[in-house]
Amino acid sequence: ISLKPYNTFGIDALAKFFVSVSNMDELKQVLALKNHPNKLILGGGSNMLLTKDFEGLVIHMNLKGIEVISENDDFVTVKANAGENWHEFVLWCINNDFGGVENLSLIPGNVGTAPIQNIGAYGVELKDIFVSCEAISIETKTLKTFTKVDCDFGYRNSIFKQHAKGKYILTNVTFKLSKTNHKLHVNYGAITSQLETMHIAHPTIQDVSKAIIAIRESKLPNPKEIGNSGSFFKNPVISKSSFNILLQNFSDIPSYPVSEDEVKIPAGWLIEKAGFKGKRFGDYGVHKNQALVLVNYGNAKGSDILNLSTLIQKTVKRLFNISIEAEVNIL
Ligand code: EPU
Repeated sequence: ISLKPYNTFGIDALAKFFVSVSNMDELKQVLALKNHPNKLILGGGSNMLLTKDFEGLVIHMNLKGIEVISENDDFVTVKANAGENWHEFVLWCINNDFGGVENLSLIPGNVGTAPIQNIGAYGVELKDIFVSCEAISIETKTLKTFTKVDCDFGYRNSIFKQHAKGKYILTNVTFKLSKTNHKLHVNYGAITSQLETMHIAHPTIQDVSKAIIAIRESKLPNPKEIGNSGSFFKNPVISKSSFNILLQNFSDIPSYPVSEDEVKIPAGWLIEKAGFKGKRFGDYGVHKNQALVLVNYGNAKGSDILNLSTLIQKTVKRLFNISIEAEVNIL
């Protein structure tokens, strides 16, 4: 079958075998299949670039359900199954007035894949509200709980991208959210000005979510209209000394402090300076409003996009001596 509807890049790669699982029993049965050694786990398909057909079995994670598992006057603990769409989960929280996820509105993907890359936006990361997740070992078929410490979260990083990579399937995630005294994270230039535009002086979590949705819609292409995987690259972290050298040639280079001697540079700026922003090559290119996003206008092949990403990496390396790393998984 074609995987086009199952990846937000809209790449028309084929899977030899495909199964969608809606509960734990089905998942266990599928994992027990001896004749399919080669398996690919698919969530929302929002963080992958398919560069060729898949000769094995694709397991589409479709486990649904959200439940409150405990609460007191101030906090609530919510468990969501892996197949829930991330943004629908965020809206469920917002509708219940549960705070903490509002800055992560409109991020593509599913609940079960969000911890893998510790999704983040506008000053908040998944780890800030994460309690634990459950995952099934592909090898032993046993369930294991991973606490926040176990997950070893970093910037767009976790144990599931490091030594646990490819070994587990996340089945559900538990979050701790606020019921009262919501702590808002609105000290981000884009949010402040969006709230001003909306004439909101004392924002609620609902307002913050609306503001984030408006910002994302203005900058980022909707994958339902133009295939994409959000930020294609991670923002590179470089030493302050390299940064000072760059400043001599590029006095307007933006940066964010990371530690005493390191800064993070927006890859979007580097790619824009390298001349790629809005560039279109047939059916693929670089988004016009955000240079960090590579796009498929229709029938691009995964290999086209991969080649473009390599060209961008080489150009950025040549101009700035900075290596930028892909954020999406390339398959
Ligand atoms: N910039 C440019 N040109 C561009 C894009 C960005 O010059 O085309 C520069 C500007 O200086 C701008 C700065 O980069 O002020 C930051 O841009 P933006 O606020 O759009 O954020 P970003 O660093 O490009 C990161 C995340 C996004 C997240 C936003 C907002 C990564 C790899 N990306 O992008 O995450 O939404 O911050 O918090 O960290 C994603 O991971 O898929 C994603 C969209």
